[in-house]
Amino acid sequence: MDMEKNMMIAVKIKEVRAQVAAWKKEGLTVGLVPTMGYLHEGHTSLVDKAVSLCDRVVASVFVNPTQFGPGEDLETYPRDFEHDCALLAAHGCDLVFHPDVAEMYGEEAATYVEILSEMPKQLCGKTRPIHFRGVCTVVSKLFNIVQPDKAFFGQKDAQQLAVIKKMVQDLSYGIEIIGCPIVREQDGLAKSSRNTYLNPEERKAALVLSKAIFLGEKLVSEGEKDAGKILTAMRERILQEPLARIDYVSAVNGVTMMPVDKIEGEVLVALAVYIGKTRLIDNFIVKG
Ligand code: PAF
Repeated sequence: MDMEKNMMIAVKIKEVRAQVAAWKKEGLTVGLVPTMGYLHEGHTSLVDKAVSLCDRVVASVFVNPTQFGPGEDLETYPRDFEHDCALLAAHGCDLVFHPDVAEMYGEEAATYVEILSEMPKQLCGKTRPIHFRGVCTVVSKLFNIVQPDKAFFGQKDAQQLAVIKKMVQDLSYGIEIIGCPIVREQDGLAKSSRNTYLNPEERKAALVLSKAIFLGEKLVSEGEKDAGKILTAMRERILQEPLARIDYVSAVNGVTMMPVDKIEGEVLVALAVYIGKTRLIDNFIVKG
């Protein structure tokens, strides 16, 4: 195991297990922040939250192949492990788990964790049919390796957060799942490792996502309850941007992810939009 300042870097599962066991023997609580690296302020806000709630914090940096479909950006997904470590150390992370694919999956892994309801087929699941199976599988493995008390996920990936909460409930994991707010650039664009794919013209065009989100939030705050009207206004706003192509703009139940017509109870209003070749997501939640 390597050390960066006071932060440990582990590449083997057994190193993580040994360190976490030692912490648990001392009666310390452990928080887990799963990431795919190329960290930004969205990720560090999760680490900050974990540091504030747990005695020790483990972050994983692993670009998980099982959650990328054919033709997606697995090979080109941005990576900068040195910068990730500097950020994690600066935010008080205690241990970074950075396995390679062989360490995580071995040669002949044939077991997946998959939610068989409609939930993972909605929203992003329509264009990314194997995505949430891969997410559940790797997060489940990380839970088994780290055995954290709490795990931290961004609200930006709202469907992922809902899917993980469902998996934790269904598989009786004794882990508290904590969702953390979306972190935005100053001009409103939600932080994402994929923003780096945008050229300057696309970066400007990408602002249409947050503009549509803010418009939707405004309509809700003005009392609009008809989901259809809100979604139409948001779609029209996005279509004003020539570089944007809508994947979906939807309103769904905040727990089940099934479509709703009315803004009642907890509702997730979410969108995915291609800017050029880059697919970006954003959302807001209405608490009932
Ligand atoms: O949100 C992500 O970065 C990934 O989906 C996660 C949760 C780290 C699993 O690979």
